[in-house]
Amino acid sequence: MKHLLKMMDLSTEEITDILNLADQLKYELKHGIAHDYLKGKTLGMIFEKASTRTRVSFETGMYQLGGYPLFLSSGDMQIGRGEPVQDTARVLSRYLDGIMIRTFKQSEVEDLAKYGSIPIINGLTDFCHPCQVLADLLTVREYKNKLDGLNMCYIGDGNNMANSLIVGCLKAGMNVSVACPDGYRPDSSVLEFTKDYDNFKLTGVPMEAAADADVLFTDVWASMGQEGEAEKRKIAFKGYQINDEIMSAAHSDAMVLHCLPAHREEEITAKVFEEHSKEIFDEAENRLHAQKAVMVKVMGE
Ligand code: CP
Ligand code: NVA
Repeated sequence: MKHLLKMMDLSTEEITDILNLADQLKYELKHGIAHDYLKGKTLGMIFEKASTRTRVSFETGMYQLGGYPLFLSSGDMQIGRGEPVQDTARVLSRYLDGIMIRTFKQSEVEDLAKYGSIPIINGLTDFCHPCQVLADLLTVREYKNKLDGLNMCYIGDGNNMANSLIVGCLKAGMNVSVACPDGYRPDSSVLEFTKDYDNFKLTGVPMEAAADADVLFTDVWASMGQEGEAEKRKIAFKGYQINDEIMSAAHSDAMVLHCLPAHREEEITAKVFEEHSKEIFDEAENRLHAQKAVMVKVMGE
């Protein structure tokens, strides 16, 4: 595995390998066992959007692996003034051992990988959020002891999270049901990918997607960069909320996960959020363990 650009690039075996390594790294961390597998290596972290979890978990994770994380705000870099990504990629490849990037366009991440010569990790684009979904799969596996055959439900915007969850969960053998309003459906390339799976369902009815769910996901109605559409989206997404009624359609022991940040009383009620806060914050913690596994896979010897 050279890069982590999107879930579609990973095989089921690679996903399982990452999750198994994440389990090992989590065990080593919790038991005080040294795991400096990236000793002496440097990771550049380019952020063109805000972040709490991604920044802190990559930075801490790199430190725990014996390496050095370098925070690079695009506003302070020449890339923010128009220096081409092709040049940035070739320059940074001379200094660093890997790059994590959070940006808008997926093509920018793909170009970094194309023109640079070091591993690139996608820390979120408008198209996808693979690091989050690996942490999500890790969390579901911890709680349910398996992934294969579980019923997954996603309610809300067909955004970066939906795109990565659909691909990641299908590859992991889960049955995937997604409820999105018209005009806010997942990316056409993702819908094309689902054509090979008869265990995928896309509906406009949230209760239908939630039926017999083992795990339910949602995400904000307006993502980073869409702040100007927030009011319009509040109307479009009315009813696309994880609440008690939705939970009554799911299995009684169903999990609820949210990548965070969450907007209470929009995509999820405060009540359901708090009832499932244990698994939601375990999910946030697992960003650290899953990403350490990704870094070791792409930057390790
Ligand atoms: N879930 C997630 O990626 O959080 P941040 O935006 O805080 O990094
Ligand atoms: N869909 C959200 C995810 C945040 C982690 C966004 O892109 O803002």
